[in-house]
Amino acid sequence: MTASGQVKELSLKGRDMIELDEYSTEEIQFLLDSAIEIKRKQKNGEVYQPLKGKTIGLIFEKSSTRTRISFETGMFQLGGHALFLSKNDIQLGRGEPISDMAQVMSRYLDGLMIRTFGHDNVVNLAKYASIPVINGLSDMAHPCQVLADLQTVLEYKGKLKGLKMAFIGDGNNMAHSLLIGGAKMGMHVALASPKGYEADAGIVKLSEDIAAQTGGSITITQDPIEAAKDADVIYTDVWASMGFEEEQAQREVAFADYQVNEELVKAAKPDYLFLHCLPAHRGEEVSEGVIDGVNSVIFDQAENRLHAQKALMVALMA
Ligand code: CP
Ligand code: NVA
Repeated sequence: MTASGQVKELSLKGRDMIELDEYSTEEIQFLLDSAIEIKRKQKNGEVYQPLKGKTIGLIFEKSSTRTRISFETGMFQLGGHALFLSKNDIQLGRGEPISDMAQVMSRYLDGLMIRTFGHDNVVNLAKYASIPVINGLSDMAHPCQVLADLQTVLEYKGKLKGLKMAFIGDGNNMAHSLLIGGAKMGMHVALASPKGYEADAGIVKLSEDIAAQTGGSITITQDPIEAAKDADVIYTDVWASMGFEEEQAQREVAFADYQVNEELVKAAKPDYLFLHCLPAHRGEEVSEGVIDGVNSVIFDQAENRLHAQKALMVALMA
């Protein structure tokens, strides 16, 4: 924001959001400032409809509560229209090539969001579509969630740079996007995962390179206490992500020492924030006492999906 409290304008029109590494620190800051401003407008009851007459298609190959509802509602509030396109209801489920689908949909729509398994589906959709494509979660990344997460931390702590964010658990899509997003914003990101469930080595290297430029840092460890030590933010996610349900029993064994509970959070700063992208499994990756305790901001975080994605859609599509 500028000194006068105005959001400094930056043009992101026509861009895709596949992962946060494609965006500069300044551009991410712009999206976060816009999200906070859009939230303020909505709380004040101001009508803000820069996407009047525009339509976004929402392709879902996996389940969703938050992503679907926040995109649909957000688009409606911005004056536009959202189409829910379940994989089984479109020809994608019967093998229509993504390249054809991307080109056809670009003739009708003004933007696309896709939630899918293979990250290459997002990349290919963006390659062939002539409209902005937003990653609503792939097996590799969940950038929309991290925009909401960063907004939440910024609102509570007043800054991001220099804060320590610990992620305890699976080196999954959430871990990847938090590594990149945190590094972009100059945060110290610590990731503790059990052996065999580490984050992708290429993403770790990328986030280390980013952190070297922003004054942040990346710590990869198998020790949850080392990661949680003096943390400002403690984050966790399910042990078995969508698509890995069959590994649930084996993962419960592998992750047994990685629960975020009252004992582990003693290592964090007393005013730490607890974040979880949700859905959560109480008694598995997080104890009831922590997720429902005073440091938990999970519902503000979930609400911010709405505001952060509205900011993103306006920036890319208006
Ligand atoms: N956090 C998140 O993306 O939630 P959904 O799976 O409910 O969309
Ligand atoms: N890692 C989780 C995130 C859900 C929002 C999954 O992919 O299922």
